[in-house]
Amino acid sequence: MTEPLIHAANLHKTFPGAGRRQPRVPVLRGISLDVHPGEMIGIVGPSGSGKSTLLSCLSGLESYDSGTIRVAGQDLAALRRGALAALPRRHIGFVFQSFNLIPSLSARENVALPARLARRKVQRPDVDRALSDVGLTDRGGHRPGQLSGGQQQRVAIARVLALRPDIVFADEPTGSLDTATGADVLRLLRASSGHGRSVVMVTHDLEAAALADRVLVLRDGTIHDELRHPTPEQVFDSVSRAGAGA
Ligand SMILES: Nc1ncnc2c1ncn2[C@@H]1O[C@H](COP(=O)(O)OP(=O)(O)OP(=O)(O)O)[C@@H](O)[C@H]1O
Ligand SMILES: [Mg+2]
Repeated sequence: MTEPLIHAANLHKTFPGAGRRQPRVPVLRGISLDVHPGEMIGIVGPSGSGKSTLLSCLSGLESYDSGTIRVAGQDLAALRRGALAALPRRHIGFVFQSFNLIPSLSARENVALPARLARRKVQRPDVDRALSDVGLTDRGGHRPGQLSGGQQQRVAIARVLALRPDIVFADEPTGSLDTATGADVLRLLRASSGHGRSVVMVTHDLEAAALADRVLVLRDGTIHDELRHPTPEQVFDSVSRAGAGA
């Protein structure tokens, strides 16, 4: 087996309790997982089970209390200061539920922005290719307000793909979209995985999760179940058992 792009072992994370005297609240309680090049992983589970927190830790956006995360062989904890800032830009892309586009910039300018911020030379063909990959060649001059929700999310995905990351994290990428539009966005994410690029997606849409090569079912900060190439029914059954405390 090739070396995993992400290796996480026995991750623990707590948040402060509600009051000063309250004990800290455990949110991740011993999570271990590997993400291999080219695979798509779906993460599902009841609200509050720690899905978003896990994604934030794996992508270096949030710190964790104990355990190990290696991204492309580099220990995230060792990189926390300095080099960490550069690491996610090179290896990691993030797609959010709210598209997080800059309203005053055109689609093309939004796609070019991260590279510009990273002081990388932005090649017009790269931007055009990213827009074409998401089917928006003819919308490059439109501002987000002139685009539908699905088109805005596709711009957000093009913005990530233009940086050619090894891993794309997506937290509820279809959460603000209707079913049909969401399905288009999912197909796009599915298509962007493979050829060495991995996608790790959190979703409440169990049919969407079943598009993944592997589905992890979280419950109370632990991996309750892992399904390989499941049917939507298998995902549904497993999530029901997780929600019911089985
Ligand atoms: N910054 C924070 N401070 C304190 N507690 C937090 C913080 N962020 C998350 N939590 C708590 O951690 C737990 C897990 O939250 P998380 O957002 O990871 O859940 P989730 O599985 O993504 O849920 P959802 O499906 O509703 O998005 C919740 O109990 C939440 O209240
Ligand atoms: Mg969440």
